[in-house]
Amino acid sequence: MKTYLVTGGAGFIGSNFILYMLKKYQEEINIINVDCLTYAGNLENLKEVEHRKNYKFLKVDVCDKKAILNIFQTYDIDRVIHFAAESHVDRSIRNPEVFVNTNVLGTLNLLNAAKLAWETEDGFKPGKKYLQVSTDEVYGALEGEEGYFYETTPLDPHSPYSASKTSADLMVKSYVDTFHFPANITRCSNNYGPYQFPEKLIPLMINNALNGKKLPVYGTGKNVRDWLYVEDHCKAIDLVAEKGRVGEVYNVGGHNEKKNIEIVTMIIDTLLEMLSAKDPRRKLISHDLITYVEDRKGHDFRYAIAPDKIKAELGWEPETPFSEGIKRTIAWYLEHMEWMERITKGEYQKYYEKMYRM
Ligand code: NAD
Ligand code: DAU
Repeated sequence: MKTYLVTGGAGFIGSNFILYMLKKYQEEINIINVDCLTYAGNLENLKEVEHRKNYKFLKVDVCDKKAILNIFQTYDIDRVIHFAAESHVDRSIRNPEVFVNTNVLGTLNLLNAAKLAWETEDGFKPGKKYLQVSTDEVYGALEGEEGYFYETTPLDPHSPYSASKTSADLMVKSYVDTFHFPANITRCSNNYGPYQFPEKLIPLMINNALNGKKLPVYGTGKNVRDWLYVEDHCKAIDLVAEKGRVGEVYNVGGHNEKKNIEIVTMIIDTLLEMLSAKDPRRKLISHDLITYVEDRKGHDFRYAIAPDKIKAELGWEPETPFSEGIKRTIAWYLEHMEWMERITKGEYQKYYEKMYRM
């Protein structure tokens, strides 16, 4: 029975991953979720699994050396899936320091603890794996309409966020190259789906539209992102953790490039299609809400990932067409308005004290 240490499991992708893994493997795996619950951590995402015997939550900062070492001494960890990070580009432009602490030093701390726990006289205990969840932003930006990021594309980050993620990737690479540490790196494009914090484009636009608020589009709205449904990303991570060749990097992408303005337009149209004629929110929603605002500083123009290697080696492909994924996502937000309200009112942050009586 494998034991997973999942960091950042209360965040968007981490909570989707834990729910996906416990559904897929049921009682066959243990999951320890390590998260310090920043503004982006919401334990309410994991309500349906919190009482399971094979799931445990630990409120720990990945930068806390003693606490992380202690976890590796207490549990025989087989897999580390490292999601925990400061993840929002705009915040990194305002306050880069916390990005270096969590994303770089937190990663180094985890690498050291895993190395110490797993090393033997002649290498590492068999079957152990560390997976660094990285991003396509480490490759920088594609300037024109053509071309893709490959695993061999030179690293060229632009924002403090992407610079911190690149630094973390390079620390992982250095442990692979120096110690033959059993790690993989996955670099994924923009995720969307349930439980995404409403600071990111898609949930922000859904929430604003439902409340008749302006929809702030940065710059010209022509910047391009490659969108991947979050469950498809979770499947890729599971596959790489199990079957990825040690030391390798795998790109994960949706084959789904869209201009930001196309996304915003699709959200408006889909909401109008899904809401019944009687729903009072319908009257609030229109294309007139679209408002062009000042551009993000250093705004990367286009991201597009070539997931050829993961397809050729591991047989992974994105499964969810965007037209279906965006409907599923909007339907989820419509069914979970209370989740969104608790976030916008800050009430989700009280859940930990109540649940864990601390
Ligand atoms: P998120 O911001 O929704 O969640 C981050 C989680 O990490 C939160 O639960 C937060 O409480 C936790 N955390 C932050 N600092 C911590 C610390 N010091 N110690 C312990 N926990 C801490 O992020 P996300 O969108 O789910 O992204 C998860 C990972 O995937 C990140 O590493 C991100 O760089 C990467 N990624 C995200 C996307 C995307 O589109 N969202 C795409 C590619 C890669
Ligand atoms: O590419 C992977 C990355 O995707 C991840 O590594 C990051 O953690 C994740 O946050 C995401 O970064 P982006 O900056 O691409 O995501 P965001 O949702 O913030 O913005 C998507 C695009 O939409 C981007 O071009 C900026 C634009 N945007 C965003 C917001 C929040 C707007 O035009 N208006 C907005 O209000």
